[in-house]
Amino acid sequence: MPEIRRVGVLGCGLMGSGIVEVAARAGYDTAVREVSAELVERGAAAIRKSLGRAVEKGKLEAAERDRILDRISLTTALEDLRGCDIIIEAVTEDLERKNELFRVLDELCGSDTIFASNTSSLTIAAMAAATRRPRSFVGLHFFNPVPVMKLVEVVRTIAVDEAVYRRAFEFARSLGKEPVEAKDTSGFIVNRLLVPYMLDAIRCLEQGLAGIKDIDRSMTLGTGYPMGPFTLCDFVGIDTLYFISEIMFEEFRDPRFAPPPLLRRMVTLGWLGKKTGRGFYDYAGERPQPVSLGI
Ligand code: 3HC
Repeated sequence: MPEIRRVGVLGCGLMGSGIVEVAARAGYDTAVREVSAELVERGAAAIRKSLGRAVEKGKLEAAERDRILDRISLTTALEDLRGCDIIIEAVTEDLERKNELFRVLDELCGSDTIFASNTSSLTIAAMAAATRRPRSFVGLHFFNPVPVMKLVEVVRTIAVDEAVYRRAFEFARSLGKEPVEAKDTSGFIVNRLLVPYMLDAIRCLEQGLAGIKDIDRSMTLGTGYPMGPFTLCDFVGIDTLYFISEIMFEEFRDPRFAPPPLLRRMVTLGWLGKKTGRGFYDYAGERPQPVSLGI
């Protein structure tokens, strides 16, 4: 099996741009594909901003930043991922959209190319089955913000080849991350525990237990979590949390994973969290302010 030299990434949003950054920082030639020139430019700006912050803080030399940027190529053409040794998908949580891309790449790439998905809630088998390479298909689940969070869940399906799995595991380690083994069930380890916690916080709010700010303060001051549950919901994205909970509910049929009505209302209204400037908090001012939900 060839050494991993060239990394491909599908999607250059919040997670994809972080994955591109850590791969290029680890020395890999990295190609990333977005669907439009506008999204390519937005992704490139996110990578430049994150690397720029590291330079400003004195954690990265300007010359090294330039070398990292030189290793990154951005494209709108799937064909440009043809020579990659591993391809990591980080597009929206939509199985059909992901599988359309995997079907095309399955034709374009050699049989040695490892396919990986950064899905947070779909099963890896549901994507592997759309290709002719279920033995070379793994999950590589990163955490937001990718350059900061140390964990990568390396997901083992029932079909994967052991040598491929080990290679993917070592690849995650080579990115400076701490890989853990996880089985291919929806949400893997972290989201299995984190998603019901976030949904419970929303239910507590719906039931009038306490306000947004006090629930957040309770969890940061009382348990040492870096962010309270509502700050975290806004950070992850209200729509993303909604998609994840729907998929996990479908997998387990357990009401703990069912999206609360308030979460649905917020998605309907486009209150998607920090990225849209409004979620459980309003981000228009200098400091985020909890929104009035009439509860
Ligand atoms: N990109 C790159 N670096 C970032 C960053 C970003 N988006 N945001 C923060 N950083 C860096 C800062 O530069 C700083 O670096 P330094 O220590 O080298 O100076 C460091 O992270 C700490 O940042 P700040 O001092 O600005 O702020 P905080 O101390 O509040 O830390 C945080 C920010 C790391 C985001 C912290 O609040 C945190 O750990 N929050 C919880 C995040 C979390 O739970 N993530 C998982 C979400 S769930 C998920 O991703 C799974 C998915 O499937 C849903």
